[in-house]
Amino acid sequence: MLIRDETANDIPAISRVVTEALKLLPQATGTEADIVETLRTQGALALSLVAEEEGLVIGYLAASAARIGEQHGWGLIGPLAVLPSRHRQGIGSALMSEALRRLRTDSRGAALVGDPTYYARFGFRAFPGLKVAGCPPEVVQALPFDSTEPRGELIHHPAFGLGQQA
Ligand SMILES: CC(C)(COP(=O)(O)OP(=O)(O)OC[C@H]1O[C@@H](n2cnc3c(N)ncnc32)[C@H](O)[C@@H]1OP(=O)(O)O)[C@@H](O)C(=O)NCCC(=O)NCCS
Repeated sequence: MLIRDETANDIPAISRVVTEALKLLPQATGTEADIVETLRTQGALALSLVAEEEGLVIGYLAASAARIGEQHGWGLIGPLAVLPSRHRQGIGSALMSEALRRLRTDSRGAALVGDPTYYARFGFRAFPGLKVAGCPPEVVQALPFDSTEPRGELIHHPAFGLGQQA
């Protein structure tokens, strides 16, 4: 398996992987592939990583700039998606490791909204006061790369349609 940056040829396969994987989540809206496309169109994909095997895209991770409260410089990870037939083979972990390695070079930390039982293994955790309107606090998580204490609302890029702007 190879983790690499997306190319223009990958775009249809990325949409398929994101749609198929996110379908499994009860909270999915069906718009996740469109969010990626909007981020791409707006030049807001800080990271757009694919996992490739034998020429096929089997996993995908996006990252975009975000702020927490007044703190700029966070890397928002999401969506992270692995083709359902390839779950539990380390593909999501490989994408996450590479994303964190790259974000460390220019971000104060990574943040995301997701299942804490999965993301804790990478060092993500909830913090007092770290929130996204309408989300249970335990699913809003951060991984600071320095001593920054993330406090306040995690503001996504407007492509996520969550109200405030990064
Ligand atoms: C979540 C997801 C990206 C994980 O990818 P993956 O390639 O299956 O993950 P890995 O193989 O790296 O998993 C590593 C570990 O996480 C566990 N795991 C996988 N999905 C999990 C989940 N939803 N909750 C808890 N643990 C999970 C695996 O059992 C494995 O644990 P083990 O090593 O102790 O067996 C993938 O399951 C997926 O695409 N799910 C649907 C979309 C989604 O939930 N995206 C994330 C939220 S935006």
